[in-house]
Amino acid sequence: MSRFWSPVVQTLTPYVPGEQPQMERLVKLNTNESPYGPSPKALAAINQQTTDDLRLYPDPEGVALKKAIADLHGLDLKQVFLGNGSDEVLAHIFLGLLKQAKPVQFPDITYSFYPVYCKLFGIEYQTIPLGSHFEVQVEDFTTPNGGVIFPNPNAPTGRAIPRADIEALLSKNTDSVMVIDEAYVDYGTESCIPLLRGSAYPENLLVVHTLSKSRALAGLRVGFAVGHPALIEGLERVKNSFNSYPLGRLAQAGAIAAIEDQAHLETTAGKVIQTRERLVKELASMGFDTLPSTANFIFTRHPNHAGGRLYQALRDRGIIVRHFKSPRIEEFLRITIGTDDQSNELIAALTDILTG
Ligand SMILES: Cc1ncc(COP(=O)(O)O)c(C=O)c1O
Repeated sequence: MSRFWSPVVQTLTPYVPGEQPQMERLVKLNTNESPYGPSPKALAAINQQTTDDLRLYPDPEGVALKKAIADLHGLDLKQVFLGNGSDEVLAHIFLGLLKQAKPVQFPDITYSFYPVYCKLFGIEYQTIPLGSHFEVQVEDFTTPNGGVIFPNPNAPTGRAIPRADIEALLSKNTDSVMVIDEAYVDYGTESCIPLLRGSAYPENLLVVHTLSKSRALAGLRVGFAVGHPALIEGLERVKNSFNSYPLGRLAQAGAIAAIEDQAHLETTAGKVIQTRERLVKELASMGFDTLPSTANFIFTRHPNHAGGRLYQALRDRGIIVRHFKSPRIEEFLRITIGTDDQSNELIAALTDILTG
């Protein structure tokens, strides 16, 4: 606390990211990073950029990267917005498109950064309860709103809804922007990007992606949104009123190469999906109840063992997972899918805890 803090700073409750511990021999399953490295082509492209040219500013518009994204997804360049991680993209969306007279709506259990942005920007919000199986129920999002946002699959639950449900909501929710945060889409969820192709696509849909998860570049900080050029233009106005150069030369070059290496994404995401399915089965045989996941993490609980206690017991054994002390989800652990070896270590540790 300082008397020099502005009134806004005094009211903030900042987002708390999953920890990045410095412990040795750690099984880190807490922040949904990829257990596999990025595309070797991305690493080579980044290395190629470490020259004297770093004295020069990067392309403020990131045109080459926008083109790579547009080409991959069958979109126009004008439909793409870039940011320093999808968190920055989301921040600009909240300020530029979701700060309206009516409250923005998002699920009661979701990515915990959304309410933080609302506080920061003075945006009113309304949380919509998930269903009894922790599913997003689109029919509950139809009251007048200043915008709707949720991840698909949702975080931290890992549950996805079909694209048809989102299309149904879009057909009813025509007067505000709908944002689908697809941070984890590459692990088995239907993307909404196809809805943005062709000529007659919705003017109020934005889909947000990150290179931090399936492209294994969380350390590079690249995210993007795709949608109608008029929405993108609004976001560019916010970006150019905040930081004209959100992506450095290394980030732009690495991201282009990563976007172009779809084969690497498919191989590594495929391995993660296989490990996830195996882990879910093994946990079930130990009595765990796991929500259906199409993400690179699972949300699981044990009827006889409190979430907080399991979290601590795993930590004592060098395995870090995520535990949220929030209503309805206190008994759950969110576990990032690692390698098969990491999964084996997790199962061994849980066996020890449950039988000990
Ligand atoms: C649902 C969701 N959206 C967005 C992000 C932000 O990702 P990044 O800023 O690394 O692109 C995360 C990160 O964990 C997330 O879980």
